[in-house]
Amino acid sequence: MRKHVLILFLLISLPLFSGGMKEEPFIGVAIYDFSDSFIAEVRDSIAAESEGGIPVRIVDAARRQQTQNGQIEAFIEDGASAIIVNSVDRTASGVIIEKCMQSNVPLVFFNREPVKDDMSKWDKVYYVGANAADSGRMAADILADYWFQHPEADRNGDGVLQFVLIKGETGHQDTELRTEYFIETLLSRGIRLDKLHEDTGEWNRSKGYDVMKSFIAHSEDEIEAVFANNDDMALGAIEALQESGFFSGGRFMPVVGIDGTGSGMKALQNGTLLGTVYNDAVNQGKAAYHLAAELAEGRIPTDEAIGYEITDGRYVWIPYRPLPGDAEQ
Ligand code: GAL
Ligand code: CA
Repeated sequence: MRKHVLILFLLISLPLFSGGMKEEPFIGVAIYDFSDSFIAEVRDSIAAESEGGIPVRIVDAARRQQTQNGQIEAFIEDGASAIIVNSVDRTASGVIIEKCMQSNVPLVFFNREPVKDDMSKWDKVYYVGANAADSGRMAADILADYWFQHPEADRNGDGVLQFVLIKGETGHQDTELRTEYFIETLLSRGIRLDKLHEDTGEWNRSKGYDVMKSFIAHSEDEIEAVFANNDDMALGAIEALQESGFFSGGRFMPVVGIDGTGSGMKALQNGTLLGTVYNDAVNQGKAAYHLAAELAEGRIPTDEAIGYEITDGRYVWIPYRPLPGDAEQ
């Protein structure tokens, strides 16, 4: 009797376990940190784009790679048709790719670029991002234009630009390339440079504030410009500068960021942020979603199907755009 019950149970449940009873298809979206302003905008764009299409399930790793690995395993177990990943640690991409390859679940990474070796492990792996070097060049051009138009920006009159750097997460391609090309571009425009301080603000506004506070404590009178690797840290820096009397009574400090987030744009309009570079969250989200949706349908994505150009068979590059403000005072 008991044996029969067991067999009956197995017969009924078998289709469930073997996928015989089809679950709703979905695309899993694994995000490194929901509290990151720019990433939240990409996430919202993915969600908006999915309306009427294959639905998405979006999860937050809160900056823990282990959490994210578990979330990706759960997506695979739940039968995800494709997975979009904004990895916590981009050097962990290889492990994620291998896991998805074993279960034949295609992958689209965005914003945190896996190294080439990992990308070439499997052909169903794509990347959506922006060319970080370009954003560094554009940020530098905004500052250089200001410098040449405003002789008083050379506060100590030595003909050298004394500046400070608030960098993003260490090891992130955007941190390294934005910084490198920012400096290279200023030099190529004939500006002599003296970097007073640099530190990481981890892309985070309150860390950007702390870092700027300590720069001010060391060199308030020497600093002539601030470059933050993103808007959130630039906004933190502006707050710290305001507490030292900048942006009122004719005291100005050129601060340049990158992203053009909602709050970045406000600072641009109220004249505290000298300029920023638009990092196109909307189109990065759309491209990632449409790549994943094509892959989820078992098709090889084409430019026509996703509406974006695919380079080298697996990369979609969304261009940056300079956004100089009218903070010229
Ligand atoms: C950058 C962006 C930063 C931060 C980072 C996260 O592209 O400018 O604000 O969101 O990505 O990986
Ligand atoms: Ca100077």
